[in-house]
Amino acid sequence: MHKLFTFLIFLLALACQSPQKVEQYSIIPLPQSINYGDGFLELESTLSLQCDQPDGLELKELFNEMGKSHSIRLGGASDATPMLLVHRPELKEESYRLNIGKEKITIESSSKAGWIYGFQSFLHCLPLDNKAKVLVRCGTIDDEPRFSYRGMHLDVSRHFFMSDEVKSFVDQMVHYKLNKLHLHLTDDQGWRLEIEQYPLLTEKGAWRTHNSQDSLCIKRSAEDKTFLIPEDRYRQIEGVKKYGGYYTKDDMRDIINYCAARNIEVIPEIDIPGHFKAAIDNYSFLSCSEKAGWGSHFSYPACLGKATTYEFIENIMSEVAELFPSKYIHIGGDEVNKDEWKKCERCQKAIKKNGLKDEHELQSHFNHHIEAFINKKGKQLIGWDEIVEGGLSNSSTVMWWRNWAPNTIREATKNGNKVIMTPDFEYYFDFPYSATPTSKVYNFEPVPDDFTADMADKVWGVQANIWTERIPNMNRVYYQALPRMLALAESGWTNKSLKDYKSFENRLNKQYAYFENEGLFYHLPALSGFDKTKVFIDEAVFEINIPDDEMTVYYTLDGSAPTPASSKYSGSIALKESAKICFRAYKNDVFSKIYEAEFEKQLMADPIEVSVLPGLVRKYFKGRYWKCSDVKIDQKPDAHSVVTDFGLGEYKGQENYALIFEGYYKAETDGIYTFYTNSDDGDQLFIHDRLVVNNDPSHGPRVRQGAIALKAGLHPIRLIYSQIGGGAIQEVFVATPAKEEQQIQADELFYKN
Ligand code: ACM
Ligand code: ZN
Repeated sequence: MHKLFTFLIFLLALACQSPQKVEQYSIIPLPQSINYGDGFLELESTLSLQCDQPDGLELKELFNEMGKSHSIRLGGASDATPMLLVHRPELKEESYRLNIGKEKITIESSSKAGWIYGFQSFLHCLPLDNKAKVLVRCGTIDDEPRFSYRGMHLDVSRHFFMSDEVKSFVDQMVHYKLNKLHLHLTDDQGWRLEIEQYPLLTEKGAWRTHNSQDSLCIKRSAEDKTFLIPEDRYRQIEGVKKYGGYYTKDDMRDIINYCAARNIEVIPEIDIPGHFKAAIDNYSFLSCSEKAGWGSHFSYPACLGKATTYEFIENIMSEVAELFPSKYIHIGGDEVNKDEWKKCERCQKAIKKNGLKDEHELQSHFNHHIEAFINKKGKQLIGWDEIVEGGLSNSSTVMWWRNWAPNTIREATKNGNKVIMTPDFEYYFDFPYSATPTSKVYNFEPVPDDFTADMADKVWGVQANIWTERIPNMNRVYYQALPRMLALAESGWTNKSLKDYKSFENRLNKQYAYFENEGLFYHLPALSGFDKTKVFIDEAVFEINIPDDEMTVYYTLDGSAPTPASSKYSGSIALKESAKICFRAYKNDVFSKIYEAEFEKQLMADPIEVSVLPGLVRKYFKGRYWKCSDVKIDQKPDAHSVVTDFGLGEYKGQENYALIFEGYYKAETDGIYTFYTNSDDGDQLFIHDRLVVNNDPSHGPRVRQGAIALKAGLHPIRLIYSQIGGGAIQEVFVATPAKEEQQIQADELFYKN
């Protein structure tokens, strides 16, 4: 009786459940135009896919795969709500019109690509949980991409990823309408593509004993499972356990077909003539010295004075050209150790024989040769922006990565070459989020302001790179890529005038739930609002801003890595002693990096009884001091005067000197004093011989801070400043128990009479 009653209540609750209503679409990348209509579509989990074109009907299986994330099935039943795929040859490639009507859903497009993208937008409009009744607002989306190249790069050499993992990555790319997968297939650390003529490339070149990058990952995996190297990446080879893997040609065909079905073109990169050690290790005749090895930065390159190098690379290119349907082959061309060519008789002879100026032109000569070769195979060349140095052919495409070489894209676009924007500072997703936050990715404008319309036309699109030296598994790939990849996708797709980071952030919130549903690791929104360092006297309160109610923070006070077994943060932490607070956010299976804060309990320093006059002693030392710690405080100065502040005075504009300011700082009341120094080139501020602000060694203008507990009265202060050349500034600010931060005033400074 009792149970039956409960069951009846449950049924009643279900019947009364108000339907979920989707009033606004939340789509990433933001479509070019959304027009809402009247009424709502009553969503059913099974739709009937209808199309009068065979290639539209072929999408049923793919849409069923993709629809799982949002509990949507495409059946054939004619009584279900129809999803009509309509062929509109007049629409541009990849563009689509999606209409959500009360009775049917229509996607119009000139090709499969547009139907696929229309379907992605439809999925983004749906709630993730469709168990309750769902009403989706009627409306029409007219959409097309801003750029036709919207790419992700994946370095499968430094660490290897299985075919299924690459496919799972591709699933996410298509969900956000990215359409190029650039696979970095070869590098010094591993050759990952079967080449039939040179079997050692993969038999040996795909396997290695642990290198320093593996060791780093293993070390970090003790605290963070996203650094674990998967066990299935190891093999016993001749009695030695080796890390690696490679794609057979069949594996690669399978990846290519999987991508093609999702409108993704696979662009292979064979990095030559540098980053080629995995080949030289096994075919040593390829290098100038017939040895593999490392120069000061980069590995020994292929020798460009030998016919055998050209033949070897042409043979590889022939197999690559045959395997990949893409019109493009990326030949790398970055970071070549040209010193080897300087020392090599054969390379020097090749420079003379071909009338070349130097080693840059030698590389360019090689590029042109390989380009002509792949052109004959019907392919076009892409290279990193170094290929601009030494001369560029008309038809090659430049992938710009070096923010510090901005002229390369200007030269290339003026020369009529296409460029792909993949800047190191904004689009390198292997960088930490602290260096490249999602907002920085989002706010990068791919077409520079100074580009003419003709030059802008040559910007083919955008790509983000994932270099995997410190990324050994897919959880880590996703951590680095999500959500930054979505910011890239919006920059690649949505017109500049429609982009708005706040709107993107709002839409991103729904995508976090999608990542979780799909079991994808991702970077949790950052914790904020906490002091990274703090000095206190009796007790301190440590507080954090947690951006998401479902995130839980765990912490330790002994420097160990926090886990869900550690103390749980609940609103604040009261500290009575010095502590290093290590904390980390968790949300279900996803966790953040470890954050750290240093809280230091100090006894208040006693003042000094001394007879003083207003001012500071300033000592001047001639010489080139790279670090303030190189300035000896007891050495005889070259000049000596009394001043009223920490400025550079008459020395501003000079180079190669140091200053020491010495005297007493007068604390008005007992309490914590926070000092800030702004310097260029560098400084160190001491109170009572204690280093309070370390703004050293030499740098551009930079503010650093530090705090100390002082009793009221006079306290010895010393500031060491060094100037080598260029910009020059020195300022000191203080926040006291009584006053907000302000420049130190003359009446706070004294020197010994
Ligand atoms: C590169 O990051 N070396 C292209
Ligand atoms: Zn050589």
